[in-house]
Amino acid sequence: MKSLKLIFITIIALIVVNSLVAQKGINTVFEGTNSRQRISINEGWSFFKYESAAKADDLIYDVRPEISDKTENKVADAKPTDAVVVEATQEVLKPWILPSGNDFINDPAKRHICPEGNPGSDFPFVQSNFDDQSWEKVNLPHDWAIKGPFQTGWDSEVGGGMGRLPINGVAWYRKKLDIPASDANKTIFLDIDGAMSYSIVWLNGHLVGGWPYGYNSYRLNLTPHIIPGGENQLVIRIDNPNHSARWYPGAGLYRNVWLTKTCPVHVGQWGTYLTTKDISKESATIDLAVVIDNDSKTDELVEVITHVFALDAKGNKIGNAVATFSALNSKIPAGESAKVESAVTIKNPKLWGPPPTQNPNLYVAVTTLSIKGKPIDEYETRFGIRSLEFNPDKGIFVNGEHIFLKGVNQHHDLGALGAAFNISATRRQLEILREMGCNAIRMSHNPPAPELLELTDQMGFLVIDEIFDSWERKKTPHDFHLIFQDWSEPDTRAFIRRDRNCPSVIIWSFGNEVGEQYTAEAGAAVAKRLYNFVKEEDPTRPTTLAMNFAKPDMELPKIPDIIGLNYQGEGIRQSPEFEGTERIRTAPQYDAFHKKFPNKVILSAETASAASSRGIYLFPVSKELSAPIRDGLGGDSKICQVSSYELHAVDFGSSVDKVFGSIEHHPFVAGEFVWNGFDYIGEPTPYYEARSSYTGIIDLAGFPKDRFYLYQSHWRPELQIAHILPHWNWPERIGEVTPVHVFTSGDEAELFLNGKSLGKKKKAEYEYRLRWDYVVYEPGELKAVAYKEGKVWAEEVVKTTGEATKLKAIANRNEIAADGKDLSFITIRITDNNELTVPVSNNKIKFSIDGPGEIVATDNGNSMDMTSFSSHEREAFNGLALVIIRSKKGEPGTITLTAKSAGLKNTSIEIISK
Ligand code: GAL
Repeated sequence: MKSLKLIFITIIALIVVNSLVAQKGINTVFEGTNSRQRISINEGWSFFKYESAAKADDLIYDVRPEISDKTENKVADAKPTDAVVVEATQEVLKPWILPSGNDFINDPAKRHICPEGNPGSDFPFVQSNFDDQSWEKVNLPHDWAIKGPFQTGWDSEVGGGMGRLPINGVAWYRKKLDIPASDANKTIFLDIDGAMSYSIVWLNGHLVGGWPYGYNSYRLNLTPHIIPGGENQLVIRIDNPNHSARWYPGAGLYRNVWLTKTCPVHVGQWGTYLTTKDISKESATIDLAVVIDNDSKTDELVEVITHVFALDAKGNKIGNAVATFSALNSKIPAGESAKVESAVTIKNPKLWGPPPTQNPNLYVAVTTLSIKGKPIDEYETRFGIRSLEFNPDKGIFVNGEHIFLKGVNQHHDLGALGAAFNISATRRQLEILREMGCNAIRMSHNPPAPELLELTDQMGFLVIDEIFDSWERKKTPHDFHLIFQDWSEPDTRAFIRRDRNCPSVIIWSFGNEVGEQYTAEAGAAVAKRLYNFVKEEDPTRPTTLAMNFAKPDMELPKIPDIIGLNYQGEGIRQSPEFEGTERIRTAPQYDAFHKKFPNKVILSAETASAASSRGIYLFPVSKELSAPIRDGLGGDSKICQVSSYELHAVDFGSSVDKVFGSIEHHPFVAGEFVWNGFDYIGEPTPYYEARSSYTGIIDLAGFPKDRFYLYQSHWRPELQIAHILPHWNWPERIGEVTPVHVFTSGDEAELFLNGKSLGKKKKAEYEYRLRWDYVVYEPGELKAVAYKEGKVWAEEVVKTTGEATKLKAIANRNEIAADGKDLSFITIRITDNNELTVPVSNNKIKFSIDGPGEIVATDNGNSMDMTSFSSHEREAFNGLALVIIRSKKGEPGTITLTAKSAGLKNTSIEIISK
């Protein structure tokens, strides 16, 4: 391990570069001289998982507490409890793993010294010559649990909370690395973007290190154990505990894995830090710090120069450099590191800001290290120039423009694809959210894949980047609290260092609903320690904590820069039925916090937790605008579905309408992050028999629920829409009251049933939907004509459909890349003869594929569907099903997907793979 002593050389150079002059004058000259390589090693792994944790080897990181209370369906806002401490009674590998975090521990005295010995070296799986022929062949990103099968019933090993999928257990991954003899003088790192969880790495029989927290990215230096030109066996052990999260964590090497090869003198891991200041249309100052590691055996004089290029929307450099940080020299002793700092002022910067009013313009800083005039390393850092202002009375300003945060919370799974990261699936999610009018995302409750932030940078979303759901106190028996003492500093610092150049990240959150809300000064002290880590790594952004319990007079809210409230703004469990409850019950808190903390911005880190099942409407319909879910009132525990009239929320939540109203009453609130954007696997409140959540605005398959249009009508007031609910296929309700609600960006609407007006309704102030609650059902046609300022604004028609007769396929992308990764999401609709989707059809559909593609997963958005996601047969859910297909690498051609269903006309769709 390289010496961790940092020599700080601070040389500030301020150069004003007129971009016009720069475009003509400065050019880069380092073609072909970059020794740095970043190589994907996602392909060709062998995988083995033990049948059960009991049968696994004992190469454990540490012992874990026995679990006595397996209760799963506890309320999401239950009070966290004290940690359980267990003393190890056997040899554990923890002392060898802890040093992997050393680069992220500031106090040298607290860094870990690796003990002698090489645990695991005699274990067969770790040996280079172990025969893994019989192991499963997999490519990364890989989530071993997603193909199932689902575990059903109350006594299943993995319950509803963690998604009923086999995430738990110990597994091994093996791969031979190709390291040519010419790499002999290189430094070679393993970069893992995320491994779920407790990963431990061996190379050629040597224990190299590991990282327990599954969501953080980490690096190990493989160099000392590499055999250049020889056989190099990389082996990774994963030990993913059950009861470790309140949602589906995924399992295994679920993000990208890289080999990074550099010259021994190189830019350090996440070694650049760019910040921007004094920003106007005319100019901006960019500060740059570069950490350079000298892993060689000689002292070196290194020249550092950084050119800045503008990027186009596809991420390509445009023209010549627009600014250059002057060349600086730094003498770095062997085995040490140095930090070089400089600044530049750029004229007429193209600012980064959120659409639709601004553009997410990006730049890249290309840093070149040279020794004796010879370039030895080139390192690129994507960044943006933007000013942020946090005003406690008005909210958040980006480049001087007030931007209300129309945000959602997102967990990391990608529905039927599980936690295995895929950029095409992630982009689809963001596109759907953007369509709704969402401009902000909270990464609940853990660091995302780095590529997700690349997308939010490119697309202009504002991000709260979050790291923890628990600290010392636990929410589940095997969550992060088990490693908090050892890893909270390295995890926090690594998290910030990785993401701090992303312009989309505007706020750091270092905790969600943590148990330390309840522990007064002691809890605040824990918070302060973490706060300091964040600020030391990035003083430029504010921090927040998401608090569902802490009140203004308590200790915890004093710590973060921004008050993040979960549900407290609207009030929690305010209806009389909750009188006397032991759960959190809180009057609306926006004003109280604003009064107590007049200098802190307030935002709602979680709102709503409204729930619904797409296409399900239950009667009678609540007269209340916001109500909990009960049998006969928004819920049906027999079928485990929640009504889509969108009036119900989990016990501590509030309906969308109620949240809109309460926020509009408090204009100082900077914005909201809805719980939540897409349904996710696990945490199926209120029905833990299920596999996936009900609180998403969009279902697990990516199909919008009615709520989507309620947000869209409010968040995109310029978009001319009217949305009618429910569907109009109710043969069993003829003559019965069947309320009709309309969501529109207009201010009034007239509803017609079979041509007959049912009256015009106007939204009152703080009203967000129009309701006709006494419509008597008769089949036919519902039509809503919406008006804005007296003029026709939008029209929508919903018809009673005929019998289901055929299938129809629509792809989100008809052309994909033949790279073995790219995806097309194909929606199958069951329609009548007139192409109207039959909203009550649940026919079973069979899928088959021809050509150079494969079916990766199918879904329908039904939280209760226990058919494996990898199945090629699936029932539709209320008229819709989804098929996800993937191209084959290097095999361009036409992929044909066919869907068949008994009694219905088939459909086929062609996707071009290029
Ligand atoms: C919140 C919690 C979220 C999620 C949500 C479910 O209390 O922060 O992680 O559990 O409730 O409604």
